[in-house]
Amino acid sequence: MSKIKIVLVVGARPNFMKSAPLMRALRARSERFETVLIHTGQHYDHKLSQLFFDELKMPKPNIYLGVGSGSHAEQTARIMTSLESELIELKPDLVVVFGDVNSTLATAVVTSKLWIKLAHVEAGLRSFDNTMPEEINRIVTDRLSDYLFVSEPSGLKNLKSEGVPDDKVFFVGNIMIDSLVYNLDVARKSDILTRLSLKPREYIAMTMHRPSNVDNPDTLKSIMEVVRKIGQRMPVIFPCHPRTQNRLNEFGLDGGDGLRIIEPLGYLDFLKLQAESRFVLTDSGGIQEETTYLKIPCITMRESTERPITSDIGTNVITGTNPDKIAAAAFDVLDGKGRQGKIPDLWDGRTAERIVELLAKHFK
Ligand code: UD1
Repeated sequence: MSKIKIVLVVGARPNFMKSAPLMRALRARSERFETVLIHTGQHYDHKLSQLFFDELKMPKPNIYLGVGSGSHAEQTARIMTSLESELIELKPDLVVVFGDVNSTLATAVVTSKLWIKLAHVEAGLRSFDNTMPEEINRIVTDRLSDYLFVSEPSGLKNLKSEGVPDDKVFFVGNIMIDSLVYNLDVARKSDILTRLSLKPREYIAMTMHRPSNVDNPDTLKSIMEVVRKIGQRMPVIFPCHPRTQNRLNEFGLDGGDGLRIIEPLGYLDFLKLQAESRFVLTDSGGIQEETTYLKIPCITMRESTERPITSDIGTNVITGTNPDKIAAAAFDVLDGKGRQGKIPDLWDGRTAERIVELLAKHFK
């Protein structure tokens, strides 16, 4: 029996921890599957890319497209152009994409136009906010996918209401949690708290990089002000994405007063920083999920979430960007009124295995 050839395409930081467990599970079945890893190069800084490959023990990509930064159209077009010829040559049986970044969208379009089967891991999530580039990426990718692997019940509901046939949709759980479960023991040994002179539960961890929060000077200034106010009660540690750092420099803003801005952290250090924090302040998607699993309170500085399970049963509170609401939620947690939260179904570290089982059955 000839092997099933599967191409995994990754490009940006959140893709790496979602692809590592699937890569491992496919390689464990190397008698059935041949895997090819393509990195688009959407993220190229050492701290956003190579460090994650090293820590997650990912194999070196077989193909690196090196597309780099640019406007959405430029970046997406560069990925499409470079990827097309690679896929024509590789002739895979299936291409797998992850999450909602530009690399996901570009790959989905190229793959389906070449009539190659497409699988989307983390399908069905919707913020219902088309001003987020990720929402467009999700909708298009799901529309084109043949296998839609869903992480939480809202995904099933959304895909049903969009008319996606049931036989394409599989509730497999959250693959990002596979990486967390697999790496948590090692992450707990990280010395990041010592390096930053922090004590468990005596600091707040923060991330922020959404264009809607950081690209507008007034919004960014108002968030930074409220964070400094929170920082007067408990220090805030903010590993800063290059996009945000560029904007802070441009608008003449910085930390101070209990707000410590540091370089982006690797996967293991950031996992440790989250796990030992009093709470997390973020606008990320994945961190809402990681904090829910870790049962650490999370305050999400966005108007909506595409991951509603994290606020329905998890530890997540969606405040939007109104500074009074952010401050009120933060002080609630500091006053001991944080949410307890439960771990959602199938966030158990075995999602990649379930996907591989399904693929083995479908590609008989
Ligand atoms: C991308 C994803 C976002 C994800 C985030 C995680 C899209 C539409 N967005 O956003 O969903 O949450 O990754 O990090 O795909 N830059 C660097 N070095 C790099 C990469 C980027 O300095 O290695 C800077 C550049 O100035 C670049 C900017 O960050 O223009 C934005 O990078 P880009 O990949 O376009 O989007 P992110 O904001 O990283």
